[in-house]
Amino acid sequence: MLACQPGKTIVDGTLGGCGHAGRICEQIAPDGVFVGVDQDWDAIEQARRVLPVDRLQVHIVHGNFAELPAFLSQLGIAAVDGILIDIGLSQHQLEASGRGFSFQRDEPLDMRMNVDADLTASDLVATLSERELARIFSRYGEERWSARIARHLAAERRKTPIATSGQLARLVAAAVPAAAARAQKIHPATRVFMALRIAVNRELEVLERFLDGAVDLLRPAGRLCVLAFHSLEDRIVKHRFREWAHPCQCPPSFPRCVCGRQATVRLLTPKVMRPSDAETRSNPMARSTRLRAVEKL
Ligand SMILES: C[S@@+](CC[C@H](N)C(=O)[O-])C[C@H]1O[C@@H](n2cnc3c(N)ncnc32)[C@H](O)[C@@H]1O
Repeated sequence: MLACQPGKTIVDGTLGGCGHAGRICEQIAPDGVFVGVDQDWDAIEQARRVLPVDRLQVHIVHGNFAELPAFLSQLGIAAVDGILIDIGLSQHQLEASGRGFSFQRDEPLDMRMNVDADLTASDLVATLSERELARIFSRYGEERWSARIARHLAAERRKTPIATSGQLARLVAAAVPAAAARAQKIHPATRVFMALRIAVNRELEVLERFLDGAVDLLRPAGRLCVLAFHSLEDRIVKHRFREWAHPCQCPPSFPRCVCGRQATVRLLTPKVMRPSDAETRSNPMARSTRLRAVEKL
């Protein structure tokens, strides 16, 4: 989808473990320009360790992909041939970062992808009102028991601070009615953990900001690819891509367009792409991935 070729300039806005980045670098060498961004210092260190340094230019930037226009301008790059973002958590963050992203571990309740940011998950759990917590669990986690869980957490935090992921997981599990917990296929804290992580990292807001600037950074025929794991994120991408490809706002009854809004992209994925069964078998973490891509006109 990125149409990588030798000599092209490609951005990976989410380096993570550098799986995509490594393949992109291979495909744009020789003479390509690669810009890799991640807000997690662990991903930056990994990129410095594993990405090639010869036969192409490699720029590694610590920061949020929402700031991509500024990063490219600082590098003196006016436009690029492709941009990829693969949003969500990396396997490293979930399993080895020690930052409390997983309810299966007992770690400090941090959940910041960027440890330079101010607020941790435990700060949010300690300071947000019960109502605000319930709203986050419901909106970002689509958690059915959001009000009940928030009430339970608000009562518990008066007795003792909620400082670890293990503690939070136990409290959430205790708040969900036992019969409902048994009927679920997932751990009762799954949605609350996801919701808190989205809130801590302001994931939906930064995605919107990134999309505001992304198309302007592409050369004609340049491509933008977004891999999302979460239906809320995918919905944002789907609507933006549609708006860009079909911007006309004239009522359907008009014989021709009078609003003058012109498409800026062509949809490369009129239907979202999902991994095949074979891919899911070999890489179970890909299970809920959704890929959407556009090409600049
Ligand atoms: C799913 S992983 C990417 C995996 C990567 N594509 C690979 O092949 O290994 C997501 C990565 O994106 C980073 N990330 C998420 N949101 C970000 C944002 N707004 N700005 C920069 N990096 C972000 C996370 O820190 C994490 O390292």
